[in-house]
Amino acid sequence: MLQWILIDRTQAPFYICNRRKRSMGIRINDIAPDFEAPTTEGPVIFHRWLWNQWTVFFSYPGNFSPVSVTEVGMAAELSREFTARNCGLIGLSVDSLETHEALSREIRETRGIPVDFPLIEDTDLRVAALYNMLPVPEADSEGVLRDDARIVRSVFVISPDRRIKFHQYYPVGTGRNFQEILRILDSLRLSTWHRVATPVNWKPGDDVFIPPDLDEEAARAMFPEGWKELKPYMRLIPQPPLARNLR
Ligand code: BEZ
Repeated sequence: MLQWILIDRTQAPFYICNRRKRSMGIRINDIAPDFEAPTTEGPVIFHRWLWNQWTVFFSYPGNFSPVSVTEVGMAAELSREFTARNCGLIGLSVDSLETHEALSREIRETRGIPVDFPLIEDTDLRVAALYNMLPVPEADSEGVLRDDARIVRSVFVISPDRRIKFHQYYPVGTGRNFQEILRILDSLRLSTWHRVATPVNWKPGDDVFIPPDLDEEAARAMFPEGWKELKPYMRLIPQPPLARNLR
């Protein structure tokens, strides 16, 4: 059975899971761990909320700190772009629903845009622990643990079949690039619909590669117009079209 052990070390809660599988962390293609939690749009059962769409689930250390405010504001600004790609956004921090609502009001007042996606209240760090969003605590030169058990900035891109397709953790001092998260989503959606892989710094509309594990015969059947062969293992084709509203 899954069990969480609460260790009070720096007065901030640390959770350690005693299940070997979890200690390996979350991996690409894992089913996204399910949870229930209060959000600014009502209680959420995560697996139901994920229903049949792409999801970007992101965490940040706390409301009303400069980097996090700019990130939630940018997510709100780009929300329509995510919706157009059949992708829901959902954020999480350790703050209460009241604080999330105050932040949403401030973003609406200062940027003129609504935060039109749910923010999860995770005051007991339950979801943060489930998704490995807590850092290893650092000790100072005297070996005393610093009180830095803040939720890190994490991003999970989850496919319509509830699998983790991308995840990354950023330190609290480094704000994310939400245009890059959109680009990752575009690449994931494209490679879900077509047997292609996107090269370094790819952006929508750029050429893409036929994956090397597709043999010549299968590649000919799939891409009858042929390809540009840079090397036998580097077969470049124009990006196949992808309707924005496809899953
Ligand atoms: C911020 O969100 O601005 C922030 C939070 C914790 C540490 C550093 C920056």
